[in-house]
Amino acid sequence: MNQTLTIALSKGRIFKETMPLLNAAGIEAVDDPETSRKLILDTNRDNVKLVIIRATDVPTYVQYGAADIGVAGKDVLIEHGGEGIYEPLDLKIARCRLMVAGRKGQQSNAARLRIATKFVNSTRNYYAMQGKQVEIIKLYGSMELAPIVGLADYIVDLVDTGNTLKANGLEPLEHIADISSRLIVNKASMKMKHEAIQALIDKIATAVR
Ligand code: ATP
Ligand code: PRP
Repeated sequence: MNQTLTIALSKGRIFKETMPLLNAAGIEAVDDPETSRKLILDTNRDNVKLVIIRATDVPTYVQYGAADIGVAGKDVLIEHGGEGIYEPLDLKIARCRLMVAGRKGQQSNAARLRIATKFVNSTRNYYAMQGKQVEIIKLYGSMELAPIVGLADYIVDLVDTGNTLKANGLEPLEHIADISSRLIVNKASMKMKHEAIQALIDKIATAVR
């Protein structure tokens, strides 16, 4: 593997769950993004760098070739749209569900539901498929608050254990999609650096299995 590879990861859950897979493929980070302020991390391989960015920015870096490879949640990929990106591998990490949730026991008769979410495209498509027109309120976090304070009838958010919903008096109502993180590759890099990237995909695929 002599061609240079740049891999985009986000801090936290994705970094923690991806590193064992990269380790199995022989790539180890020299710094820990939780303690380092560096945005470009060296690895034990001279030709492999990690760039540490926001989870929602990973597909954009890969789309434009600023990173050859990235790891992003399917939720983020659906919102991004996937232009310029291949998605060759389901890493089966950071698994959760995209769901509609609302106040426990609540019935809403509103003619036009208000839905708070950061997953605007997924939400629009979900309700459009049911022929329902909804008003979508874009939020950037803490969606669980919206139904409690009357900002929205329902939310569309990620659910894993359900603890966050429960702690805020909400309940999961409708399942929209199963989510896991995917390895994504820039389309041009896949051609130009095929040997190095395919070798890495094969090693990671073995580790996933
Ligand atoms: P940003 O930095 O852009 O705000 P974020 O805070 O959503 O992103 P994380 O919370 O690290 O970033 O989530 C990264 C990915 O992990 C999500 O896109 C999703 O695919 C998955 N994920 C989010 N929450 C959970 C959860 N509770 N359990 C399992 N996986 C999750
Ligand atoms: C995610 C998601 C939910 C929560 C669901 O938030 O946005 O709030 O996890 O997980 P649970 O069903 O196990 O409670 P996260 O913990 O990633 O925090 P965030 O707001 O920083 O994204």
